[in-house]
Amino acid sequence: MEEKLKKIKDDTLEFIKSTKILDELEDIRVKVLGRKGLLTGVLRSLGELEPEIRGMVGKKSNEIKSIIEEALKDKKDELSKSRLGDVISQEWIDVTLDPEKSARNRTRGYLHPISQIQYQIEDIFTSMGFQILDGPETESDYYNFEALNIPKHHPARDMQDTFWTEDGNLLRTHTSAIQIRGMEKMTPPFRVIGPGRVFRYESIDASHENTFYQVEGMMIDRNISTSNLIYIMKQLLSEIFERDVKVRLRPGYFPFVEPGFELDINCLICGGTGCKVCKQTGWVELLPCGLVHPNVLRFGGIDPDEWSGFAFGLGLNRLIMMKYGINDIRHFMNGDIRFVKQF
Ligand code: DAH
Repeated sequence: MEEKLKKIKDDTLEFIKSTKILDELEDIRVKVLGRKGLLTGVLRSLGELEPEIRGMVGKKSNEIKSIIEEALKDKKDELSKSRLGDVISQEWIDVTLDPEKSARNRTRGYLHPISQIQYQIEDIFTSMGFQILDGPETESDYYNFEALNIPKHHPARDMQDTFWTEDGNLLRTHTSAIQIRGMEKMTPPFRVIGPGRVFRYESIDASHENTFYQVEGMMIDRNISTSNLIYIMKQLLSEIFERDVKVRLRPGYFPFVEPGFELDINCLICGGTGCKVCKQTGWVELLPCGLVHPNVLRFGGIDPDEWSGFAFGLGLNRLIMMKYGINDIRHFMNGDIRFVKQF
């Protein structure tokens, strides 16, 4: 009997030692200590034993029972801990990792400042009821010049040096071409803006580029006057520069508007007292605009006796240069990521 007990003890402890599976501990417990278990069987049969050995076997069995229970408990603790260890090592997140150095941020892209200001301007204008229009970058002579009251051989064509294509079309020199396309599509009253890339056959220097960005705007309604123009421009510029800006109009000549203006804003660098940027005048020329010329309305299929409107052409590169104090227009196109990253 003693040997039988020893075998139960040794086999059970050996099994507990070797297993790595939590559920198997329960199986062995049932097999040895359960109601019909091996050791339970021994304890139950004590009554059938000789009285001399009964006490010894009973004592021994109970000892073995405690040893096995202890071993089961230790092994259970050990396996539970290592299972937690496995989970931790597989689902581990290093919360102390520097986000600047993590791979996800290293590949982050940046919106070009031109895109940023364009989206901002689009938001401002849509909130004032304007629709956004698009137009082709390769334009016909008609939309870029003719319908804007600039007939062939008109001296105003020399104001904008043009890239011509071999088939007589051109790369649009201004987004004003979108005005005509807009008028053809819309019925008055309407308000539209047309953002886009424009091209001039220019030699490049710190303030001239052959490729730059504009937003054209146009509002057509009954009795539109210069006051409407000034109000909308002030709204726009105050939002862009995030402060109240003063504007003033000077006469300016553009064939597609009459009267035409140059709109100046008070110099934001010196606050109007005079500095290098505003050439001591306190004012900076910002955008050309005017009331739409009756000929242009007619070209767009709109009756100038019933409708009137204003139009403006906002240069985005210039605007950003003013806003951030950038002194060279070539930064916009040179593809240097360090420039773009700053905005
Ligand atoms: N299209 C002109 C340019 O690029 C800018 C311009 C001037 C647009 C007056 C207008 C305007 O709508 O009314 O030089």
